[in-house]
Amino acid sequence: MLTAKMAKALNEQINAELYSSYLYLAMSAYFQGENLTGFAKWMRVQADEERMHAMKFYDYVLARGGTVKLTAIEAPPASWKNALDVFKAVYEHELKVSALINDLSSLSQHEKDHASHATLEWFVTEQVEEEATADNIVKQLKLAGSAPGALFILDRELGARAPSAGAAGAT
Ligand code: FEO
Repeated sequence: MLTAKMAKALNEQINAELYSSYLYLAMSAYFQGENLTGFAKWMRVQADEERMHAMKFYDYVLARGGTVKLTAIEAPPASWKNALDVFKAVYEHELKVSALINDLSSLSQHEKDHASHATLEWFVTEQVEEEATADNIVKQLKLAGSAPGALFILDRELGARAPSAGAAGAT
């Protein structure tokens, strides 16, 4: 059984993960509008991944006999200056998510909730990858500068990202 504090915090994280999905979907739409279809595809896969993160928390809350309370998802921005601006925003966002996950992990220890702590370990590890991936793309975009050729190659590379396993509509 989850403590009331833990259940509330986990529900807030469901909302945060759904916001991440919404944000990345908005970024996908932005890239599509810019004709950067590889970036758009990468971001759409990322949006699917974030929904899976939300569902992991959703399933976990239910498995522990908690109540899932879905709340309003904040509207994400709709436009950015360029691809570098987008990925800088992704990196900043993932740093915030890492802080939220760390807070949840600390709370689980404080509440002596070992099951939640074990579940959160997966997310702690996942955030290392999420931050590193965004940071890496920021660095590549900085190297690419304003050279259209380099941006084209990066668009092709990112477009090769496979859909997340288990994502809705994955082929
Ligand atoms: Fe759900 Fe990108 O962390």
